[in-house]
Amino acid sequence: MSRYHDTYHSWKQDPAGFWAEAAKEIDWTRTADEVYARVDNLDRWFVGAECNTCYNCIDRHVEAGRGDQPAVIYDSPITGAKASYSYAQLLDEVATLAAVLNDLGVSKGDRVIVYMPMIPQALFAMLACARIGAVHSVVFGGFAPKELATRIDDAKPKAILSASCGIEPGRVIAYKPLLDQAVELSKSKPARILILQREQALAELHGDRDVDWQSAVDAARAQGARADCVTVAATDPLYILYTSGTTGEPKGVVRDNGGHMVALKWSMFNIYGIAPGEVFWAASDVGWVVGHSYIVYAPLLHGATTIVFEGKPVGTPDPGTFWRVIEDYKVAALFTAPTAFRAIRKEDPEANYLKKYDVSSMRTLFLAGERADPDTIQWAEEQLKVPVIDHWWQTETGWTIAGNPMGLGALPVKYGSPAVAMPGYDIDVLDEAGQPLAPGKLGAICVKLPLPPCCLPTLWNNDARFKESYLSAFPGYYETADAGYKDEDGYLYIMARTDDIINVAGHRLSTGGMEEVLAGHEDVAECCVVGIADKLKGQIPIGFVVLKAGAGHTTEEIERECVQLVREKIGAVAALRIVMNVPRLPKTRSGKILRGTIRKIADGEDWTMPATIDDPAILDEITAAMKTKSLVAG
Ligand code: COA
Ligand code: AMP
Repeated sequence: MSRYHDTYHSWKQDPAGFWAEAAKEIDWTRTADEVYARVDNLDRWFVGAECNTCYNCIDRHVEAGRGDQPAVIYDSPITGAKASYSYAQLLDEVATLAAVLNDLGVSKGDRVIVYMPMIPQALFAMLACARIGAVHSVVFGGFAPKELATRIDDAKPKAILSASCGIEPGRVIAYKPLLDQAVELSKSKPARILILQREQALAELHGDRDVDWQSAVDAARAQGARADCVTVAATDPLYILYTSGTTGEPKGVVRDNGGHMVALKWSMFNIYGIAPGEVFWAASDVGWVVGHSYIVYAPLLHGATTIVFEGKPVGTPDPGTFWRVIEDYKVAALFTAPTAFRAIRKEDPEANYLKKYDVSSMRTLFLAGERADPDTIQWAEEQLKVPVIDHWWQTETGWTIAGNPMGLGALPVKYGSPAVAMPGYDIDVLDEAGQPLAPGKLGAICVKLPLPPCCLPTLWNNDARFKESYLSAFPGYYETADAGYKDEDGYLYIMARTDDIINVAGHRLSTGGMEEVLAGHEDVAECCVVGIADKLKGQIPIGFVVLKAGAGHTTEEIERECVQLVREKIGAVAALRIVMNVPRLPKTRSGKILRGTIRKIADGEDWTMPATIDDPAILDEITAAMKTKSLVAG
């Protein structure tokens, strides 16, 4: 019998009592005056409490005798490098790097941008910031200089921590030129840039601003310089993570220290069923929220071992890589995006590579980041012979909104559903008037306020945008911007986004952002970008452009330039590979582009001619254009 229902009920009866109990798993310098309170018109958790996240992730485990246990295992099939850091070694690395940060003039409350590939130093950087109370903002390595510049201008970092390069299959990406370009583009200039040189591409360091990471760490170590943990308020920001919003401007999701620790620590056993000392592997990237929560903070708060994997599910070198890592490090649970499994299945449908490895240590596979299609779940279940657990969450929440809690005891799996609301989340599906809908009825999925610990209290320096984006449409609720329904048993089904966000290979992207870039091409009169279904990546973006009369180049050239422009301005990760010229875009009479209808046509879904369409013939033109590129399903 699962303890889920009792646990959820006990939270609902007494939310503050529930979280006060969970908070006992964290070491506080000062406990909270109020578990929950409204402060400056925002919902805050553990008000009055003081703590340090790095202390809870590292020092306390060393003090408790866990010093020799591996904390971080690094495995890079892309370079062949491997390394393991015990909790004691992690403490040394982080305390020393924190001393270097102090030396660079970074102190409590200052922001630090971390632009790094999947190497252990990315974790050291985040934890070193946490140690001295600085606020990190990690930017995914696949983003282009302009995206980085937008984040620099919003966060106004005192320092940037980076590496000389990232490595993708078949190419080395020199980070320093991208970084220099981003700083050039930004109004707010960081005082110092710390660069970790990697042998695959050395960076040129300029003047006093640029500092060689290893030399600085070596010098600090030679002097025995180590920074102590700085006490911060539980409500102080630990990090800012920028995520796609409905315009090109990313939203700076703020994570606090106290609530974040409490919810993540609670999740490790109750949701993931992991005991301290076990190996937990989130095959994601520190640039995404999954990486923040489940590569870095949650496993370490729990005294588990985490894996930093610099590779891909396929091609590094083959679709057996995941199984090799599970065998080598006796991974107890793997957490990844469904795309990774679709990629493995595509290359190895009979799972022949799996037969070469002993993956018996693995008890559960967790999937999130995008809709887990039942076909992929069933294939994974058949091959791995372990429960495959879908769960739903967002950058904004930092942890599971709905899931199937393995530690509390698994509930029956229903394919296509990430299961039920976790304690802390009271979820309703609302109609347009904000009224709760009956089971089975599709509507806007919303969470009753207040949101639980770990969820964003606000957006960085922008309470107004926070309220307008999330709290204004349905008073009393947080709007998830996901649409779906709940069944009679309370299982949620997440069907689509209600905004312009698409999910490409588990990466969250804004089609509006891509449209802004396409509109910037000199020959483009108007444009739209639509996310259509893709067998591997879940969704992919497709661009449509209407050209100005007398455009200077050929249509093919302009289409190619548009693809290149998105790559340059947003980054390769946008994965916009098809842009097509069309004579007109389908619109309503009031001028709204019918993106939803285009998507339905491409996906082979039923669609009806919108009553307000300006000219129905335009949809035929678009359909014909998509057919020439084999983009229409069915
Ligand atoms: N730095 C620089 N570039 C990056 C990057 C990074 N960290 N991550 C991805 N890119 C680039 C890729 O190299 C690719 O470039 P290309 O257009 O020159 O080929 C582009 O961004 C698109 O990447 P992606 O959408 O990931 O496609 P892919 O074909 O390279 O890989 C998969 C396909 C399925 C192997 C890959 O998407 C994957 O591993 N997915 C798992 C999902 C996942 O981890 N999601 C994270 C959230 S949980
Ligand atoms: P991100 O902020 O990158 O984590 O993306 C969050 C969005 O991804 C959600 O709002 C959903 O649209 C989608 N998503 C995440 N997990 C799931 C899931 N398990 N099922 C369906 N959609 C998901």
